[in-house]
Amino acid sequence: MKRVLALVLIVAFICILGTIYAGEKNFQYVGASKCKMCHKSEKSGNQYGLWMERKHSKAYATLATAESKEVAQKAGVTGDPQKAKECLVCHVTAFEASDAQKAETLTLEEGVSCEACHGPGSEYKGMKVMKGIYAKTMKGADYGLIAPSEEVCVKCHNTKSPTYQKFEYAKAVKIVSHPVPKK
Ligand code: HEC
Ligand code: HEC
Ligand code: HEC
Ligand code: HEC
Repeated sequence: MKRVLALVLIVAFICILGTIYAGEKNFQYVGASKCKMCHKSEKSGNQYGLWMERKHSKAYATLATAESKEVAQKAGVTGDPQKAKECLVCHVTAFEASDAQKAETLTLEEGVSCEACHGPGSEYKGMKVMKGIYAKTMKGADYGLIAPSEEVCVKCHNTKSPTYQKFEYAKAVKIVSHPVPKK
């Protein structure tokens, strides 16, 4: 009896490990171009357009400015800021994720894009899953979708930023907000 129980436990343990591993492996960052088609109409709340208008979408471009070269110099970073990992960690999406976690459609040029806040989209971007998560019949976390919180923002909005400005979550969220219109 004990032996059977032990076996059941071992099998269960392997299954759990397997799910966790498979889960992590499957989620890939696909880039904002893959969200655009469904998130740019006024009816859906035009999240893509609103993001394009604000600075997160230009965070990589910013690294090419004269100001950035100055900031880099003061921070002791030599060379082109657009190639410096000391800057890219916060100015592009998922810089520290492995190559296997990044689809070819994710670009540096898109800067801080959807998935920097919402998590890797390969598994949740399908219509059925998106609607299910929105209707709360499916759990976002099972598909890689993160509910953005202050914790997500302060990975970049912290004193390691050479131009750090005091970050107030409630105010900051209002500035980047892009709600789905109530039906
Ligand atoms: C095939 C269409 C489609 C694509 C592609 C798509 N979405 Fe969605 N998404 C939807 C729909 C539909 C909803 C439900 C809200 C609505 O009706 O507008 C939704 C809801 C969401 C929500 C709200 C989920 C919640 O917790 O309620 C987030 C966040 C989101 N999408 C992010 C993304 C991101 C990021 C991408 C790209 C990686 C993406 N979507 C790609 C159709 C899509
Ligand atoms: C991957 C890093 C990263 C994450 C995550 C991030 N930000 Fe940012 N944020 C930046 C960078 C970099 C800039 C400056 C971009 C520039 O000026 O080129 C910025 C700028 C801003 C600005 C000023 C931009 C404007 O358009 O006025 C606000 C507000 C802001 N972020 C809010 C947030 C909030 C709220 C969150 C979390 C929900 C968040 N950010 C998550 C990196 C990040
Ligand atoms: C800087 C971080 C950040 C970026 C970049 C970002 N979002 Fe969001 N998004 C948020 C936050 C914060 C919320 C609000 C979450 C909440 O209220 O619970 C949100 C909410 C949403 C919602 C749900 C709105 C609702 O009313 O339920 C959708 C859909 C969405 N985002 C899509 C996108 C898409 C598509 C992109 C890229 C074009 C994008 N987001 C880029 C932070 C971000
Ligand atoms: C820890 C994350 C982080 C790192 C590392 C980082 N930045 Fe930033 N950067 C931000 C955030 C967040 C902002 C928005 C303002 C702030 O700092 O709060 C920003 C803003 C900027 C701005 C101002 C843009 C504007 O709108 O005026 C410049 C320029 C800039 N960063 C250049 C750099 C350079 C160059 C490096 C590398 C030497 C770098 N950053 C490294 C997070 C970071």
